[in-house]
Amino acid sequence: MSASPVITVDGPSGVGKGTIAHRLSDHLGWHLLDSGALYRVTGQACVIEGVAWDDAEAVTEVARNLDVRFTGSADGEVLVAYKGEDVSDAIRTEEGGRGASTVAAIPSVRTALLARQRQMRQPPGLVADGRDMGTVVFSDAPLKFFLTASAGERARRRHKQLIAKGESVSLPRLLRDIQERDERDSTRDVAPLVPAEDAIIIDTSSLSIEEVFEQVMAAVKERGLEGMG
Ligand code: DC
Repeated sequence: MSASPVITVDGPSGVGKGTIAHRLSDHLGWHLLDSGALYRVTGQACVIEGVAWDDAEAVTEVARNLDVRFTGSADGEVLVAYKGEDVSDAIRTEEGGRGASTVAAIPSVRTALLARQRQMRQPPGLVADGRDMGTVVFSDAPLKFFLTASAGERARRRHKQLIAKGESVSLPRLLRDIQERDERDSTRDVAPLVPAEDAIIIDTSSLSIEEVFEQVMAAVKERGLEGMG
């Protein structure tokens, strides 16, 4: 039996990846892997366990033993628990993003989380959201997307999201954080943030989520992936 199909959605933060991956998995009735959440939980687990984000050996141990549970809540939000403790909000802060990006640069941490990600490839199919889904984790995926947007536009979108959640962060500070995180994610030695050679690249800077979803669905239909599984 051939492996279940995977659609990968990669790109930097603030390009609408999460929303698109969520909608696509809902639409197709496929599983969803939010790989960024795994790195975020690893960062948060380090905070809880008293491990410094740059202590490669100790962080790897945390990643290997990560007791994480994802559950869907009634309002469609995904709840994330570490050792039974709800960390859903903590991992979504700017600090959570910094921790994730720091631990994600450690090669042995990436290896420790690899099998866990690949296990998510189950019938009828998987939509995988991240940075290296198409290049490393599911390099044989039949359909790959890479979403981009200017750093300024991503900072504005993130600013709006944070304001809606009641977090107050200045726009210039957000832009600086995004640029720093892009730099760290794109220049690391292992699985840097680059599009797969066979990825469809969509610049979302001036597109609405609807418009991006339309482009994505057109490619899904063209490849005959709708209704598969
Ligand atoms: O998608 P996100 O913002 O939740 O990801 C948080 C961080 O995790 C991001 O800065 C880089 C890292 N990450 C990664 O290295 N590889 C992935 N597949 C997903 C996320």
